[in-house]
Amino acid sequence: MTESTIIVAIDGPAGSGKSSVSKQVARRLGFGYLDTGAAYRALAWHALEHDADTSDSASVIDLAGSFDYAISLDPDDYWVRVGETDVTEAIREPRVTDAVSGVARVPVVRKTVNKMFRRLAEDSGRPGVIVEGRDITTVVAPDAPVRILLTAAPEVRASRRSAEVTTQDAAAVAAALHKRDASDSAVVDFLTAAPGVDVVDSTHLDFDQTVDAVLDVIRTTVPAA
Ligand code: DC
Repeated sequence: MTESTIIVAIDGPAGSGKSSVSKQVARRLGFGYLDTGAAYRALAWHALEHDADTSDSASVIDLAGSFDYAISLDPDDYWVRVGETDVTEAIREPRVTDAVSGVARVPVVRKTVNKMFRRLAEDSGRPGVIVEGRDITTVVAPDAPVRILLTAAPEVRASRRSAEVTTQDAAAVAAALHKRDASDSAVVDFLTAAPGVDVVDSTHLDFDQTVDAVLDVIRTTVPAA
């Protein structure tokens, strides 16, 4: 990262409110917003479009080589593209969510996308960037001045997710979340805070309170933000 870009690293599990909170915090600070999970999702989407087996690392690595990926860092104009195709909505489909862990567990893929994340944050043209994901505080930007783990109790995460996903019943959503926690945490540990990482637990907070709690942590560490 360049000295001049303030990086705020936010990690957390699915359903912790990470994406919506990060976007809102970015708006409040005039920062960019980088959703790193979208890169893994877009690669999974790309693999599915090519009928590739996402559980086969060699196929995933092969496809990663021909992967033309672009993402907006503007929290008010968020989009994700693969080549000429806008995949902003498509990468949220359950078939992509089911396939994404297979893609994210390939070390070569992680190394490649991590380099891209650093470049995107550096070139954002904003005073700072909120970078959110699973390994931002530990691998992508361990040197960031602000590092936060955003958590919430599993049952709260499941009920928030279930309010978003109207096509599945609550039990199915909870089961899918639990399964994804298990497969994602086999790749990186995003459930415990690394040394020096601030924890914001949103279990008993609403959206605005969570945004304020994150802003408090940022302003304590970087008063100029
Ligand atoms: O946050 P999300 O649900 O959009 O993430 C999609 C997937 O990508 C999820 O299975 C975890 C993985 N991921 C990761 O391994 N590392 C990141 N920095 C971000 C996401």
